[in-house]
Amino acid sequence: MTVNGALAFARALGLERLDAGLLLAHHVKRGREWLLAHPDAQLDARARAGFEADCHRRADGVPLAYLTGVREFRGLALSVTPAVLVPRPDTETLADWAIELVSALPGTPRPRVADLGTGSGALALAIAAACPHADVTATDVSEAALGVASANAQRLGLSVHLRRGDWWQAVRTEHFDLAVSNPPYVAAGDPHLHALRHEPQGALVSGADGLAALRQIVSDARPFLSGWLLLEHGCDQAEPVHKLLALAGFCDIQTRRDLQGLQRCTGARLR
Ligand SMILES: C[S@@+](CC[C@H](N)C(=O)[O-])C[C@H]1O[C@@H](n2cnc3c(N)ncnc32)[C@H](O)[C@@H]1O
Repeated sequence: MTVNGALAFARALGLERLDAGLLLAHHVKRGREWLLAHPDAQLDARARAGFEADCHRRADGVPLAYLTGVREFRGLALSVTPAVLVPRPDTETLADWAIELVSALPGTPRPRVADLGTGSGALALAIAAACPHADVTATDVSEAALGVASANAQRLGLSVHLRRGDWWQAVRTEHFDLAVSNPPYVAAGDPHLHALRHEPQGALVSGADGLAALRQIVSDARPFLSGWLLLEHGCDQAEPVHKLLALAGFCDIQTRRDLQGLQRCTGARLR
């Protein structure tokens, strides 16, 4: 099978051109520009078998990042496995907001930052990379997710403390100047979950209304936080999250839009 034949095979299965190219580049261990320059190059048997199997997986909806094992987040190449949610570009809005605030914390030479539910480590590592003066702690209830985050931190040479446990309970003896979280926020039974079936359901689903984790993180924050709490949520959840924050005594409540213009994160401050 040639490079062009492999790409035609992928497209016949319904794969998008970009996905087919990235997958083939991964299996032949070359850049996509090499594929363009060598349309008639022959794939060896191993590359062909791996590529064909992954094309079938991709056609079944497996995220490309699980097949190539990598996803870029704010310029960091993160390893991802099916134990973690694939980091989304929209979550960069939350990372940008946190970095903006951590960079401008007056009179705090070493700000303590928590990322609750870190998954691959995306938010914690983006903050640690952009704010080397910050003391970053990342938590997750999933041991497997913490393993992925730990491997990413080591490979990228970034220092992050890792804690396992249920939301704030993972850091119950600690105190933070800022906290971020992209918790599960999809309602059980939501029809969108079918398209997300290959990702860990514990990273996606949160109770009957999708707000269970957000409710817990907001209502339990006070003993652990003096400063901003920044939360990612569903694009129709800004109003209920705003109400949760107000009820818990947060001030300066505000919402930011993601790259698609949707209301995706809400943040507020505890004094
Ligand atoms: C939506 S994913 C976000 C992952 C990562 N922060 C990101 O933005 O790509 C939610 C994460 O929360 C973790 N999680 C779910 N329930 C949790 C709990 N009770 N306590 C701590 N983490 C939890 C999941 O394991 C998952 O890694």
